[in-house]
Amino acid sequence: MTKVGLTTQIERARFLLTKAKRVAFLTGAGLSAESGVPTFRGGGNSLVWRSRPFAELSSAQLVREDPKLLWEWFDYRLGVLAKCQPNAAHHTIAQVGATGWFETVSVVTQNVDGLHTAAGSVGVIELHGNIRVARCTECSYQTEIEGLPDKVRPPECQECGAAMRPNVVLFGEFLDSQDLNRAQEIARSADVALVIGTSGLVYPANELPLITKSSGGKLIEINPEQTALTDLCDLSVRSSAAHAVPMIFEN
Ligand code: OAD
Repeated sequence: MTKVGLTTQIERARFLLTKAKRVAFLTGAGLSAESGVPTFRGGGNSLVWRSRPFAELSSAQLVREDPKLLWEWFDYRLGVLAKCQPNAAHHTIAQVGATGWFETVSVVTQNVDGLHTAAGSVGVIELHGNIRVARCTECSYQTEIEGLPDKVRPPECQECGAAMRPNVVLFGEFLDSQDLNRAQEIARSADVALVIGTSGLVYPANELPLITKSSGGKLIEINPEQTALTDLCDLSVRSSAAHAVPMIFEN
């Protein structure tokens, strides 16, 4: 395969988008990397805290067995996020949604950081939940973590008194079926899906690009590294998200 420079890759991405009516952004941790949010697998690193890998900490088992540790881990991540702002890629995606260039613009993310919404994107599907929200383990009560008493971990539900937990999908849990159905429909109807900053290793989010492709849509990957999805994509833009996304959509 002939290697082409970034300018050519950007031109090809713009060309693929010229006739698109329905555009989907399928995003992962790499999109927020330039905001200062650590990725899980980027660069071959694994997020480790107190010598325990994230997969062990972000597990459904911990909700039952050690909710205090689970909350300490999520409080640590919230602390990291408190210093992070949306970057140029989040802002461009929000602007693309607001301009009316395309018939529909949808954002489906694996990220729990809320940065798409903070940048102004509307109707974002957060497949893995939102780290700023807590939900009751017994009833349907949900609330922003910011409003909870700081010291009580796990916090108590204000409705029924049961323990609260972070409103994110943990290892060993299913995604919200409504969110997943909507995401699959978006992937199916997209003329072009931009797959940004994901290793493509986590199911079922990693099936969305496959759905787009098998429904006749085009796939543009934006990632500095080769991924499990690269071979499926019509084009790979080998650059960081905050650099490439604004270049693709600038007038
Ligand atoms: P990963 O951490 O698995 O992959 C991050 C990807 O981002 C890698 O392919 C990097 O090459 C790429 N990357 C790094 N910096 C980038 C940049 N500046 N611009 C663009 N790309 C960049 O992240 P995800 O695929 O999102 O789930 O991980 C999926 C899920 O794994 C997460 O949502 C999380 C974790 O288990 C849960 O916690 C449920």
